[in-house]
Amino acid sequence: GYAVGAFNILDYNSMRAVIDAAEEWRAPVIIQTSVKTVLFWGYDAVISWAKQLTLHATIPVAIHLDHCTDIDVIRKCIDAGWTSVMIDASTKPFTENIRLTQQVLDMTASCGVSVEAELGAIVGVEDDIHVKEQEAHLADADQAVQFCRELPIDCFAPAVGTAHGIYKGEPKIAYDLIEEIAARTGVPLALHGGTGLADDVFHRCIALGCAKVNISTQLKYA
Ligand code: 13P
Repeated sequence: GYAVGAFNILDYNSMRAVIDAAEEWRAPVIIQTSVKTVLFWGYDAVISWAKQLTLHATIPVAIHLDHCTDIDVIRKCIDAGWTSVMIDASTKPFTENIRLTQQVLDMTASCGVSVEAELGAIVGVEDDIHVKEQEAHLADADQAVQFCRELPIDCFAPAVGTAHGIYKGEPKIAYDLIEEIAARTGVPLALHGGTGLADDVFHRCIALGCAKVNISTQLKYA
């Protein structure tokens, strides 16, 4: 019944703004970095900002790698100090998605880093991942159950009708699917595409089982 906000930062200033806001709201927070942001600034720079900014933090702060398709980047983030990573193998066939996600779980097994994985195709642009409307598809509930049964992931991102970027019309959220997947898997769900969703949509999704809410585009506008 509670969700943690996950905000895509771009640099030191935006990381600081997110942590300051979380302190002000007395809320735990997830700092997200896209692959581009990590490669632009470098692994050690991003982690050193996080270390400095959380030195006196009185709220829990996680550092999460968002939508990564590259196992090598994931490994370097784990080594550098990220506390959570997302392997996005959602464009691959189902069995390949399972294989790659398992590979990341093997890497994190001994170090306590959390793993998020995706199923289905979320429409829009996020970093270097572009999904056109005609390519987007919701996650299949039975596949979602199988995915989460085979993989002990910490957070699951099924495509449920939200979109990355600005919504062109009224978002068509598959609430029934969120409810079914959350109930049948028992895994905390990540709600991607948070920019532009109304408060009542957030509340409904969170009540149904979304425990992580991703916001990126809105911060860029701010
Ligand atoms: P928005 O850019 O639509 O807020 O989506 C963010 C997101 O889901 C990052 O993974």
